[in-house]
Amino acid sequence: MNYNIALLRGDGIGPEIVDSACEVLKKTGDIYGHTFNFTPYLIGGAAIDACGEGLPKETVEGCVNSDSVLLGAVGGPKWDTLPGNKRPEKALLGIRSALGLYTNIRPAKLFPAMADACLLRKDVAEKGVDIVMIRELTGGIYFGERGRRDGKYGPEAYDTEAYSVMEIERIAHVAFKTAMIRRKKVVSIDKANVLESSRLWRETVHRIAEQYPEVECTDMLVDNAAMQLIKNPAQFDVIVTTNMFGDILSDECSQITGSIGLLPSASLGDTTCGMYEPIHGSAPDIAGMNKANPLATILSAAMMLRYSFGLETEAVAIEKAVEDVLDAGFRTGDILGASDATPLSCTEMTAKVLEYLK
Ligand code: IPM
Ligand code: MG
Repeated sequence: MNYNIALLRGDGIGPEIVDSACEVLKKTGDIYGHTFNFTPYLIGGAAIDACGEGLPKETVEGCVNSDSVLLGAVGGPKWDTLPGNKRPEKALLGIRSALGLYTNIRPAKLFPAMADACLLRKDVAEKGVDIVMIRELTGGIYFGERGRRDGKYGPEAYDTEAYSVMEIERIAHVAFKTAMIRRKKVVSIDKANVLESSRLWRETVHRIAEQYPEVECTDMLVDNAAMQLIKNPAQFDVIVTTNMFGDILSDECSQITGSIGLLPSASLGDTTCGMYEPIHGSAPDIAGMNKANPLATILSAAMMLRYSFGLETEAVAIEKAVEDVLDAGFRTGDILGASDATPLSCTEMTAKVLEYLK
């Protein structure tokens, strides 16, 4: 089969890690008889520099007309002083929204070989971490009304968290369906003791839960969830939560599984065209130095094969190659932990994955 993939390399380490993942996709195609065609489009700071806007029309059109999208990362100090609606991050929100990608799947699994890099106490880590976070991606405070105005104490700014029943229902369905093919447990995370939007969230999730009687559905307040993830991560199977809580808690998950350089994500809507990106940012401090960990992006490419193309065997082959490389003791700088291995560069790590890919 032939697949057309739009590449949004973006900023910072984005180009390096996307190129790594492309090499892994190419080799996977060679082994299994698929052709992946890559077309690059500009996004983020790179697009602002080239054409004055973070999300050019051609980029949106190119993504809409592709079979799926692979994204590196956006943003960097160079564009940090731009007004909010001109920042590279706004382009990322724009493409998520333009493609209707309301579901963000963020698996957080502790690879046995990563026990050293994981910040949990050994007895806690040994119970295992295997979580799938389902983060709502096109609603909530990221997309609510915002602005500046004169307030009671002078100038003030505001952002609004708003969720419709429809938005909560559709993300809840994704969570319960995900749980049905896993350990059948959903924890819905909110702040229902304070926020009205969270009370609607909770009510709606429970109404949808009735359609999935086999799944155990519980609620957790976000502050407690932040604590429970450290205290006893083994209790979690599927987490479903809002855009902002999901953003925050997924970074926390990266530290209980080793490194943010390892965690992939898939953003999906109602079509098979999804967008796949590592959960980490553009790491401007190491951009262009060939030091980045490409594994999160490589694992994101595996998710693309699984969710957009239905190529489960191929996805598993990539995931297995990554696991075998880690098992064999190869490390980039971010996942050295207590290991005394010599850190590999981004291209060396990519070469290792290619070597182990069968
Ligand atoms: C992420 C990132 C983005 C987000 C930023 C870069 C806008 O942190 O994908 O987690 O907050 O969604
Ligand atoms: Mg984030």
